[in-house]
Amino acid sequence: MNAIITTLPGDGIGPEVIAEAVAVLHRVGEVYGHTFEIRTALLGGCAIDAHGTALPQETIDACTSAHAVLLGAVGGPKWDNPAAKVRPEQGLLGIRKTLGLFANLRPVTIHEQLLAASPLRPELLKDVDMVVVRELTGGIYFGEKKRSPHESGEIVIDTCVYTTGEVERIIRAAATIARGRKKKLVSVDKANVLETSRLWRATTARVMADEFPDVVLEHMLVDACAMHLIRRPADFDVIVTENMFGDILTDEASQLAGSMGMLPSASLGADSGGPTRMGLYEPIHGSAPDIAGKGIANPMATILSVALLLRHSLGLEAEAQAVENAVYATLEAGIVTGDVAAKGAPVSDTKSVGAAIVSRIV
Ligand code: IPM
Ligand code: MG
Repeated sequence: MNAIITTLPGDGIGPEVIAEAVAVLHRVGEVYGHTFEIRTALLGGCAIDAHGTALPQETIDACTSAHAVLLGAVGGPKWDNPAAKVRPEQGLLGIRKTLGLFANLRPVTIHEQLLAASPLRPELLKDVDMVVVRELTGGIYFGEKKRSPHESGEIVIDTCVYTTGEVERIIRAAATIARGRKKKLVSVDKANVLETSRLWRATTARVMADEFPDVVLEHMLVDACAMHLIRRPADFDVIVTENMFGDILTDEASQLAGSMGMLPSASLGADSGGPTRMGLYEPIHGSAPDIAGKGIANPMATILSVALLLRHSLGLEAEAQAVENAVYATLEAGIVTGDVAAKGAPVSDTKSVGAAIVSRIV
């Protein structure tokens, strides 16, 4: 197949990990006879420096004209002034919203090799295999914000907004994934306090009863979920939740996998019904300014994001599995960056890990 893939390397370690991911894409093309045309555009801090905005129009155009988008990371201390009008994160939030990517899939699996890298006891981690489905274009992230003077200084408002339709579509997306797995869906909310959560819970119950009677649904409050993720992580199959709860819970869940450097994510829009589906793929880690430019960042999360891209946007399942297997084989060979290396074991740099993965795609 011929596909156009736009990369948004972004800031910090973003360009370093994207370079390895692009090498993987080219290798997959060679081995399986596909042509991937790779384009690059600016997003985040680098776009602010070049154009004064985190999401330039030409970046939007480069994404809408592609079959899929692969993103590194955005942000860094250079653009961190909280009072600034333009911020790198606006680029990320803006591109998610502009492309209508409402379903964010964050799979958490734990590989034998990484048991020691997790702060949790290995016996708790055995059999951990879950997908967190985070609603990505609604909630408090995108509701109205206001600042006005107040006798004590200022009064500031963030608004959390959800519509029935927004809840229905994310529940359907998550339940469909659960149906293809262990048929267990945990829906996370704060229905004892928040009105949006009460809509979320009622809508979820209705959609599941009407359309997914074969999937077991459990409602869980977000504070309890935070606890159970640590106490009994292996009990979860698919978790679905709103935007901010999903942001917080997935950082927590990432620790189950040992390192944030291991976890990919996919952000999907509505299913087009056609052979390809627009999606944006990114590692869940950030720009890691403290190690940027040193060549030591772990490229595995970004390369595993390439596997998700092949699977979800291009429908190339065998190719996706080949990439995942190459990553696991590289882990097993002990060719890893410092964040996941066992104590005293040899440490490889970004490029050697990338090359080892490329050479295992056959
Ligand atoms: C994430 C990040 C972003 C988010 C930030 C960088 C805006 O934390 O993708 O989880 O909160 O969505
Ligand atoms: Mg986050």
